[in-house]
Amino acid sequence: MSKIILVTGGAGYIGSHTVLQLLLGGYKAVVVDNLDNSSDVSIKRVKELAREYVNNLSFHQVDLRDRPAIEKIFAQTKFEAVIHFAGLKAVGESVSEPLLYHDNNVIGTVILLEVMSAHGCKNLIFSSSATVYGWPKEVPCTEEFPLTAVNPYGRTKCHLIISDMVGQLFVEEICRDLHNSDSKWKIILLRYFNPVGAHPSGHIGEDPRGTPNNLMPFVQQVAVGRRSALTVFGNDYSTKDGTGVRDYIHVVDLADGHIAALRKLSDPKIGCEVYNLGTGKGTSVLEMVSAFEKASGKKIPLKIVGRRPGDAEVVYASTKKAETELKWKAKYGIEEICRDQWNWASKNPYGYGSSHSK
Ligand code: NAD
Ligand code: UD1
Repeated sequence: MSKIILVTGGAGYIGSHTVLQLLLGGYKAVVVDNLDNSSDVSIKRVKELAREYVNNLSFHQVDLRDRPAIEKIFAQTKFEAVIHFAGLKAVGESVSEPLLYHDNNVIGTVILLEVMSAHGCKNLIFSSSATVYGWPKEVPCTEEFPLTAVNPYGRTKCHLIISDMVGQLFVEEICRDLHNSDSKWKIILLRYFNPVGAHPSGHIGEDPRGTPNNLMPFVQQVAVGRRSALTVFGNDYSTKDGTGVRDYIHVVDLADGHIAALRKLSDPKIGCEVYNLGTGKGTSVLEMVSAFEKASGKKIPLKIVGRRPGDAEVVYASTKKAETELKWKAKYGIEEICRDQWNWASKNPYGYGSSHSK
């Protein structure tokens, strides 16, 4: 019998890729998403890609904070585990609308955990972020590094990103408290580095609303002619070419990391554990742009401006713990990332709205 996994936020960028990998891996998936930052076209595309597994996916357009609706879903199905992606993630908005972010990301999670507990489902995988490391004192970042909110150094360096990050830090803390109170809870906190790229089919990918905050969606929109130039935030860092360095991880590798984490949840020794999901390699903004130009054959005009407030200089992961304990390692490098990102962008220049908004 296939195990049934509840995926919150499963219509979104990382969620849709993970749902596909779940289906192809023989799991059944039930997606809960309010489509606040996504489209049900992603669900339709995942079904197409899942072929013979298509009937193993069901979708509920529901907000996590709608407790009766979430209760009803748990009453109908016995879930093996929950993978929790649902959350708002726009950095600027998180600063201007903190209560909306705390309500959606923190309260939404508490409601989910309460309903899970009431129905005896105590296996959880949560999407945390490398942002919790702030401006790390050294690299690679290991899971034991101090977290930014409790680290005054990181706090001053990263004051502007505190708001989008506190949700993830709070939820991490809530999960640790929950496990301490009841050891039946098995929880894996996955700290993503920089998720990029798209499914190699070009049918699913990232489709941000409004002006993209992140590097690769912006580059992609320049390549398809939606924006005139990429603004490079600072070329005076102490890095190889002066631009910021990050650990870019292919979204399919990231999705596979969740399958590895699900397997780990059946380890009787697991409690509440944290794993980095990254590649362990640092790539600068200019290196990323040059790899994308090569993959797409498009010139990306650049406009160099000052540093973006809150940006760290160099962030990349130590991958040792995930490799050893989850038996998972990223397979793709920036060449494949850019190839797949361009394949998605060229087929869907306006994301999931391409068919009607061109
Ligand atoms: P996304 O916006 O594409 O997906 C999140 C999904 O959650 C969306 O489909 C949205 O409609 C849904 N959602 C939001 N609030 C909801 C609610 N209250 N009820 C039901 N559905 C709701 O984002 P993503 O890039 O796929 O990120 C997934 C998760 O991973 C997020 O929690 C994000 O904070 C975290 N994360 C993302 C990154 C990144 O760079 N993309 C990095 C680290 C962590
Ligand atoms: C950013 C957010 C972080 C969030 C994460 C989600 C900030 C300060 N940080 O992290 O809070 O959790 O995304 O994935 O917003 N860059 C440009 N031009 C651009 C965009 C980015 O030069 O238009 C540079 C940045 O300065 C950085 C690199 O590209 O050096 C990567 O940026 P980005 O994709 O935004 O990721 P993070 O900075 O890691």
